[in-house]
Amino acid sequence: MKKEDLFSPQGHPARSQPPERPRRGPARDADPLLRSPLASYVLNRLPADLAAVAQGRATYEQLAAEQCRVLRAAGAEDGPLATDPSSARLVQLDLLFMLNGYLPAGPTAFPRPLLASLAAQCDRYPSLDPHMSYELLIDVNCAEWETTGRIRVFSDGELGCLERDFYLGHHLAEPAVRGAFDRLSALVLEPDAVDPAAALEEALRGLGDFRRYMAQYGRLPREAFQAFRRYHMSHPGGARGVSGAFMPSVQLLELALLAPTPLYERYLGQSLAYFPAWSRPVVSEWRERSRAGGNVVQAVLDGRLKPDRRAGAALLGVIDMFVDFRMVHLGVTRKALPEAFEPSARPTRQSILAQDGERDFLDGAGPGDGRGDELGTSGFSVHNVLTNAVHRLLTARHRVAETLGPVTD
Ligand code: HEM
Repeated sequence: MKKEDLFSPQGHPARSQPPERPRRGPARDADPLLRSPLASYVLNRLPADLAAVAQGRATYEQLAAEQCRVLRAAGAEDGPLATDPSSARLVQLDLLFMLNGYLPAGPTAFPRPLLASLAAQCDRYPSLDPHMSYELLIDVNCAEWETTGRIRVFSDGELGCLERDFYLGHHLAEPAVRGAFDRLSALVLEPDAVDPAAALEEALRGLGDFRRYMAQYGRLPREAFQAFRRYHMSHPGGARGVSGAFMPSVQLLELALLAPTPLYERYLGQSLAYFPAWSRPVVSEWRERSRAGGNVVQAVLDGRLKPDRRAGAALLGVIDMFVDFRMVHLGVTRKALPEAFEPSARPTRQSILAQDGERDFLDGAGPGDGRGDELGTSGFSVHNVLTNAVHRLLTARHRVAETLGPVTD
């Protein structure tokens, strides 16, 4: 899948077509049925079942009754459904797809046998996320798509294709920003072994690619986003929901670029458990290092790194491209989720830089409290998380530009 095909009709083969041939992996593994006894239900029937409930053609009770039959047939009454660690994450993904289907009705609708199956899985495999996480929904789900050509979605029909692209776009985009982080981390960790201008120019190219992925999301219709977003929400009073906020490479890039502010550290602290497991120690390590001055901007401000003209221009280019990514993201989010923004809010680079600082990311009204819906699926204030992220970059850019003086003519 190329980025240009995301959210476009050419990227949407009819869902009735058979799955693409597996691109890698042994043929035995290519059959998702062999890796999760719930795969057939979740892949083939769940989206239509959820559509029937959403359209009032079926009730949650009927949905629960059907899913209990599916669980019994899969052997859920005899113990955990996954019999080996390699399939455990996929089974967990299936169980959580079934569970999150009840989120629009609230946790009281969760069927007991489904909760019992999840509990049995988590007891047997304690490292599994007990809630739908970025790692399961994006990383595991998209890796399965790469192997089998099948992907799990909540929405039926055409909406399901757009939802698929929403997940795939995140998965396909992350290596670009990860590459930018790798270049910057090399500059921080081995300054003498790295050519700063070349490293920064390469990081800039990666970020440009990442930004282009983001721009594709302008094609996602608001109705489609809102249709599947309700299955990503936080459990009221429980775990945070799934969000791009938990894509680790973006936060790693920020940490390698500039020192964390106290509020950003709090935000990372509250987010850490929701990042993919592999990334949690890496984020913690970079948070410590960056706070202690191990980041590119601080190295320039302290005079430890003295970029020549070319490297200076590339560093400003990296910050500008990162800001650009976040501004495009902000625009796409305002279009998709207008209710999360004051009608008069027009966040621009200038207005965000003019803010007297970052704002409380926990401050916001949630659904059902009569003040609108300012919280994202992560449970943080959408407006404040997104504008804080731009504010930190613009503040750093201002300080770097002052230190470097004119670098382009
Ligand atoms: C229609 C498309 C998208 C919408 C509506 C959207 C919405 C949001 C919202 C509401 C937040 C605030 C936190 C929360 O979810 O509660 C957020 C955060 C975030 N999203 Fe997205 N998002 C979209 C696409 C993407 C894509 C494609 C990426 C990455 C390739 C991404 C990366 C991020 C990141 C990194 C954050 C944390 C803030 C930051 O560090 O800049 N999002 N998104």
